[in-house]
Amino acid sequence: MKPPGPTGPRKTDMTHFLDIHTTPPSDLRAIIDDARRMKDARSGLPKGTPDADQPLANHMVALIFEKPSTRTRVSFDVGVRQMGGQTMVLSGTDMQLGHGETIADTARVLSRYVDMIMIRTFEEATLHEMAEYASVPVINGLTNRTHPCQIMADIMTFEEHRGPIKGRKVVWSGDGNNVFASFAHAAKQFDFDLVFSGPPPLDPERALDGLYTIERDPQKAVQGADLVVTDTWVSMHDPASARERRHNQLRGYQITDTLMGKANPDALFMHCLPAHRDDEVTSAVMDGPHSVIFDEAENRLHAQKAVMRYCLNA
Ligand code: CP
Ligand code: NVA
Repeated sequence: MKPPGPTGPRKTDMTHFLDIHTTPPSDLRAIIDDARRMKDARSGLPKGTPDADQPLANHMVALIFEKPSTRTRVSFDVGVRQMGGQTMVLSGTDMQLGHGETIADTARVLSRYVDMIMIRTFEEATLHEMAEYASVPVINGLTNRTHPCQIMADIMTFEEHRGPIKGRKVVWSGDGNNVFASFAHAAKQFDFDLVFSGPPPLDPERALDGLYTIERDPQKAVQGADLVVTDTWVSMHDPASARERRHNQLRGYQITDTLMGKANPDALFMHCLPAHRDDEVTSAVMDGPHSVIFDEAENRLHAQKAVMRYCLNA
C-alpha cells in the first residue's frame, strides 16, 4: 500500500469522538453504560484514587483549549489521571497554532508525542482538520457549533434520575446554540422528543431541521416536559456587543419556578454551566428541587472517561 504523502492526510481507521450524530447509537449507549459502571466502581473514593484497571496506563493525552473552560479542563484532566494516563493542558494562544502553524501540521506533530487529543476550539473545521491529519484519536471539547461531551453527561444524568430517555420530552428554552445542536443530534440517536422555544432570530442552524419541533411560547412548550434545559444567552464565540440585544430577545425565555411549575411534576432542570444566575435561569430554579446541575457537572468526568476508553479501545 502506498504510504501517505508528506503533506496528505493519513487515512486511518481511528475512532474519534467528534459529534453525537456521527457516532453510532449502539456505541453511544455502550459509552453511557461504561460511564455508569466506572462511576459506580469508584463511588465514595477520594478523587485522586486510581481506577483499579488503569486503562490509560502509559498513555499521554493533550488537552487543547482555544477558549476558557472550568469543567471540561478539570474533568478531562482528572479523568485521564484516574485511568492511569498523563495529561498536558495546552492553551491555543501559547502554541504555534495561534501564530500561523497549520492545524494539519499541528495534528501531525502532536501525534508523534501523544496518544490522544482533546480540543476546544472555535470553528468546526478546525476540529475536523485536526481529526483528519492526526494519527491518534481526537475528541471534541466544544466548538462554536457543537458540544457532544456535554450532552453525553446530560443523557447519563437524566437516566440516573429518571430511567431511559427514549420517548421522553425535552424542552430547550433560550438560544439555539452549540449545546442545543448536540441535544438535537442526541434526540435522533437516543430517540427522544426535543422542543425548541426561543425567538426566531436565535433559531438553531438549518442543518438541524427535522431533529426537533418549535413552540415559540415557553409556557406552552414546557407542558408535559420531563426535562427543561437552558444555557447562557451569550456564548463564548458570540460578540460581546450582542449582549444587550440577546437579553431583550430572550428575557421571556428565562427559566423560573412558574415555568418549571408547568412542566411535569418530576421534571428535571439542566444547564451545562457556567450559568448567569437570574439571567437565563433564576437562582431559585438552579438551587431548587428540579435541578440536577451539579450531577450533570460531575458526570462530565465519568462520561468523558468512557468516551476516552471508547476512542482508545482501552
Ligand atoms: N459546560 C462546560 O463545558 O463548562 P466549561 O466551559 O467550564 O468547560
Ligand atoms: N454555549 C456555551 C457553552 C459553554 C459550556 C458557549 O459556547 O459559550
